[in-house]
Amino acid sequence: MSVRIAPSILSSDLANLVSEVRDVESAGADQIHLDIMDGHFVPNLTFGPPLVRCLARHTALPLDAHLMVTDPTPLIAPLADCGVTRISVHVETCPHIQRTVSLIREHGALAGAAINPGTPLAFVTEITAWLDFILVMSVNPGFGGQKFIPESTDRIRRLRALLKDDSFDLSVDGGVNAQTAPSLVSAGATTLIAGSAIFGAESRRVALESIRAAVAKGQVT
Ligand code: DX5
Ligand code: ZN
Repeated sequence: MSVRIAPSILSSDLANLVSEVRDVESAGADQIHLDIMDGHFVPNLTFGPPLVRCLARHTALPLDAHLMVTDPTPLIAPLADCGVTRISVHVETCPHIQRTVSLIREHGALAGAAINPGTPLAFVTEITAWLDFILVMSVNPGFGGQKFIPESTDRIRRLRALLKDDSFDLSVDGGVNAQTAPSLVSAGATTLIAGSAIFGAESRRVALESIRAAVAKGQVT
């Protein structure tokens, strides 16, 4: 399975969002990752459906919404309605997760469960039948540019070994760059979400290509 790269606009110049997204689209990005934060589940605030609706008019790439909010349910329909095709909710916020991910699928989007670095893997391995993908956080969610938590690679490896379907999409989010990406892919990650490594670089294209090249080379650069 080829690895997908999803730039996270959290680290982009949000005042020039259209040009930022066009840049990564022309550089070969596979998806656009949207970090939606409520200042409650995580100590940061970002944006919601109104901005996503406007952005969707300017890109053909699939939109992937990562909901870091205490109550994701009211956001699901509006986001799907804006054209978001992948939505992940945090297992830590969903006491009735089967209901929540079913709602995502009912709205025609792929349903993902996101898991924090300190949450036992069983929270996602028990529910894979209801999911289209799992998003493993490799930093504590809330901010871009944080240091990669090294134990995350082994978590991906253990999670991959527990999944029956080899092609099941395992996304990894936080501190992904050309140094960390190769071992994450070797461990079984299939989607790499990267914010500061791409939007913090002078050339988004060079940054994206260097992650891809590092993965292809299969070794830590
Ligand atoms: C963090 C977000 C990430 C963030 C990653 O809470 O979920 O998507 O943008 O940023 P980097 O790649 O800089 O760690
Ligand atoms: Zn994210």
